[in-house]
This record gives sequence, C-alpha cells and structure tokens, in this order.
Amino acid sequence: MHLTKEEEDILEGEHGPGLEKAMKLLLAIGKIYDAEKLIPIESAQVAGVSYKTMGEAGLEFVKDFSNKAEVKVRTLMNPAGMDLDRKGIESKEFREKQLQLVEAYRKMGIEPSCTCTPYLAGNRPKKDTHLAWSESSAVSFANSVLGARTNREGGPSALMAAVIGKTPYYGLHIKENRAPEVIYEVQDKVPTALLGYLVGRDVGDKIPYFKGISPSEDELKTLGAAMAATGAVALYHVESITPEYDDFSTEDLEKIPVTMEDIDEVKMELTQNNDPDVIVLGCPHLSSEELTHIAGLLENKHIKEGPDLLVYTSRKVKEQNPSSVKTIQNFGGKVITDTCMVVSPLENNYSTAATNSGKAAAYLPKLANQKVIYADLETLMEMIS
Ligand code: F3S
Repeated sequence: MHLTKEEEDILEGEHGPGLEKAMKLLLAIGKIYDAEKLIPIESAQVAGVSYKTMGEAGLEFVKDFSNKAEVKVRTLMNPAGMDLDRKGIESKEFREKQLQLVEAYRKMGIEPSCTCTPYLAGNRPKKDTHLAWSESSAVSFANSVLGARTNREGGPSALMAAVIGKTPYYGLHIKENRAPEVIYEVQDKVPTALLGYLVGRDVGDKIPYFKGISPSEDELKTLGAAMAATGAVALYHVESITPEYDDFSTEDLEKIPVTMEDIDEVKMELTQNNDPDVIVLGCPHLSSEELTHIAGLLENKHIKEGPDLLVYTSRKVKEQNPSSVKTIQNFGGKVITDTCMVVSPLENNYSTAATNSGKAAAYLPKLANQKVIYADLETLMEMIS
C-alpha cells in the first residue's frame, strides 16, 4: 500500500502513540483488502457508544485512547444506551459508565449527536463524497439514497479513520464495486420493513437492485435498515429512485420475484406473541415527517391500559418538532433521544415488544431479550388508543 511521507511518519510514531495505533489499524485493513492507498474522508460516524454493547473493556479502551488522539474530520456518535439528559430504565451504575463513555468520545472532538440518522441531524453528505461510517443503517442510507461512499466500518476502524482523517481506498469507495448483483422484482405493494427483512436474509452482502417499488425517503431508510440487519447489505439500488440506479448494466442479472405471499410468511414468523408490554417506534430514529405522522394519529387521545409507548428519535428532530413531541407526551407516550430500543437495556422493564421496524424485529430477540410482534404503524396505534 502506498503511503505518503506524512503517513510514514505517523506509522513510525512521530505524531504520537494514538495516531501510530490508528495508522497501524488502517494499514492492516488496507492490506487485507488490497487497498492501493488511503483517501481523505469528509466525515466519520462512530458506533460503539452504548455501554450496553461496549461493556467495561470497551469503556477502558476508549478512555485510554481519548488521552492519545483527537479527530481530524467531523465525527458523530451513534446512539448511546440511554437518554443523556433524563433518567430512564437504566441502573445508576449503567448511567455513570455511559456518561464516562460519551465524555471520552467527546474529549476526542466527537459530537454527541447520538443518532443512527446523522443525515437527518445536520450531516447529510453529498453524492460521491468519501466517508467512514459504521452504523449499518446509516451506511446503507449514505451509500444508497445519498450516493456517498462508505464501507461498512466497525466502531474501531471508523474511530481510527476519524483521527487520521483518511480511510483505505477499497470496496464501496470504488465506483465499479457499486454495481448491482441481483434484481428483486416486487410484484405487490409491500411494506419496506418486511421487504428489507426478507431480502436481507436472502441476499447476504450482495448489492440488490429493486424493481416495482416507489418508496419515500423514510421508506428507503426502513428498507436499508432491515437489509443491513438480516443481511449485510451496505448498498442497494431502486429503479428510477436512487441516484446510481442507471449507472450500471442490469441486463444479465438473476431476477427474483417477491410477492405478497412471501411477505405474509415473514410477518407470520415475526409474530411470536399477541400481547406486547411495550410498543417501540423509531428504528432507525424517526424523521420529522414520521414524528409528525405519529402525533397526528394520537391527537386528542389518551393511552389506554396496556403496553407503554416509547418513541425514539434524534435530539435534533425532537427539538425541531416541539408540538408533535407534546402531542405524543400528552397521549402518554415517551419521546426518547440519544438511544434506542436495541442499545438501551429495554430488558430491564419489558419482555415483549411490538414494532413496525424490520431491523428492530431482527435485533430485539438477540440483543434485548424480547419476544417480538411486527405490525404496521396504524395497527400498533390501534392497540393503545
Ligand atoms: Fe438505530 Fe438502534 Fe435501529 S441504532 S437503526 S434505532 S437498532
């Protein structure tokens, strides 16, 4: 891998042990993937912010590293394990550790945005810009919907790219690696959360190309998140919708039909119970339009006895929509920022969660010990109002 003189110096430790460590990791990744060089990135997004997923070893690593380096490009944090301002379902010890972890990242210059939708919270990358993002749904959105370029980074590799300001040039940074590999012909109007759940499981880490759907931006967000959870999809194309859909030939690709019957089967699988004790919305974090829509469904109503309602969004979207937030709170729901149903300790209070998110439905059983019920938003709202 070709290194510039400055990069060589960093590798030799002349810019301190933090940058040396970062450069060694980027070089190791670059060698694995045969990258010819490092390229500058415009921004980074760092996962590994929740104390629930990082644990004590992760906290100690980040605290130690925060004494040795600062980020060189704009860098944002993924969701933490709790709302940073308000006491939630976490224990006192969890709260203390979580605040230490966020503080360590902040010390390096990382913004405590704590969201998986940085593109809705002030960092919307332009087409063809290079990034090192790590939250899988954000990676999918940046590549597919915005046409920016990022590999699916791990938390450590995104952090190391942030402090160097560069990332190895391989994978989805290179245009010819962004071509679709298989076509899904969707034959009915289906929810994108379930479509993503189904296709992600089938396609693995290939690049799918969809025909027959016309999703909104929020539906694209949901589609990509689900495919990144049940598969490892970091980029997809949608005919006539996404920015690179006609940049490549699709003539010789395998075509797989998707029907409502396929989707109904997935929905059945995802209904493990009919009696939720909590309804969770906002995976990925809600946009302003989604928050407003939910508020509209709950206007002048009050939560009835039964499941709680937890609604997750970014701090920025919450601040931008005070009247929708108030409507949801007046209804009896909680609007929570900085965290989500998966990376907070939901299992402390609940055992069966209902959601309209394909990604949350995929992760809640494993990561929050929940039985899951998938239903569309309107059905979920009818359960409680
Ligand atoms: Fe975001 Fe949490 Fe879902 S990080 S994509 S809301 S699992």
